[in-house]
Amino acid sequence: MTIFVTGGAGFIGSNFILNWVENSQEKIINIDKLTYAGNLENLKSVEDNPNYLFVEGDIADNALIESLYKLHQPRALINFAAESHVDRSIHTPQDFIYTNILGTFNLLETSLRFWKALKDSEQKNFRFLHVSTDEVYGSLGKDDHPFLETNSYQPNSPYSASKASSDHLVRAYFHTYGLPVLTTNCSNNYGPFQFPEKLIPLCISNALTGELLPIYGDGMQIRDWLYVNDHCNAINRVLEIGSIGEVYNIGGCNEKTNIDVVKTICLILDELKPKLDRKSYEEQIKFIKDRPGHDRRYAIDARKIQNKLKWNPSETFESGIRNTIQWYLNNQTWVGHVLDGQYRQWIKKQYT
Ligand code: NAD
Ligand code: TYD
Repeated sequence: MTIFVTGGAGFIGSNFILNWVENSQEKIINIDKLTYAGNLENLKSVEDNPNYLFVEGDIADNALIESLYKLHQPRALINFAAESHVDRSIHTPQDFIYTNILGTFNLLETSLRFWKALKDSEQKNFRFLHVSTDEVYGSLGKDDHPFLETNSYQPNSPYSASKASSDHLVRAYFHTYGLPVLTTNCSNNYGPFQFPEKLIPLCISNALTGELLPIYGDGMQIRDWLYVNDHCNAINRVLEIGSIGEVYNIGGCNEKTNIDVVKTICLILDELKPKLDRKSYEEQIKFIKDRPGHDRRYAIDARKIQNKLKWNPSETFESGIRNTIQWYLNNQTWVGHVLDGQYRQWIKKQYT
């Protein structure tokens, strides 16, 4: 049997593929357009594995996805492909509309055609799993209850609005056409292979190169952090035993302010890679202009997936962030390759 993943050269998708190849005998096919965020170096250790195949392509390309369905007849598709960075969505929202909305729409259309032509027993087993974000629910106040699956959608950035739109399309293809879909809405991930434009890898990388650690606004915004392997395990649970048409919120029960996260990174680096002058990395922290429309707090009530699918995260924030920092210290060549000309242009545009 075979499964498709889209966006498997990105941060979460590549972690998912590495786990899959290690733990399953089932073939996995990765369809990725290789945007700035897609990096085949993440998948070097599996590139010769007979159970893994990479196809360079766009999820919005109807002919390509249709031909791949005909050729490989997968039992499931997991959609990781997206434009995923809020700050970039503020500069270039059109890329987000294209991939997150039109791309997902094309996957739904091609999946529906493929699924309709299957035999009854194969139709029953097919799954379309859409990987989404908690940001679709908007921003919480300090004392609000964490996001439940039943919360209304109140997206505030072009990124979250485009993901919200894709979630609605996925829901509609279940209710209108019966396509067996599953949707997951997860909190902020961190871990190996994350592109250093997001808070945690940006701060680790900047700390080591002696650059500033930029904190937007007052740094008191709250995110719920989940180690990426825990997210991958949750997706596997949902794929195998989730009820079709259902939405599952995934979170780590690790609410932290941004300033706390960055100070924790500094403390661990002070221990693992002390500076020659013995000063703390904290001295590199700099508060800068806030992100427009910056959501104040995200938090997840993950009781549904915990109770119904018996999933629980295995990393605490303390163990996960330590693993992550150690991974970046051990993989400086990977970091060096990622920090190319294109990346530098982004940093200049965003931070000067
Ligand atoms: P990422 O930006 O690291 O990777 C996205 C991948 O999608 C890249 O490999 C890129 O090349 C590919 N891609 C982009 N446009 C494409 C297209 N049109 N066709 C084919 N491939 C395309 O993102 P990520 O952090 O790994 O996130 C994966 C998914 O998880 C996204 O849907 C995101 O919304 C969701 N999510 C992410 C987080 C997080 O904290 N990173 C949290 C919750 C949900
Ligand atoms: P980010 O990693 O971009 O994820 P998201 O916006 O999807 O939550 O940002 C996490 C938090 O860190 C968010 O509140 C914005 C903040 N942040 C900074 O303070 N400085 C930065 O340089 C970046 C990239 C993010």
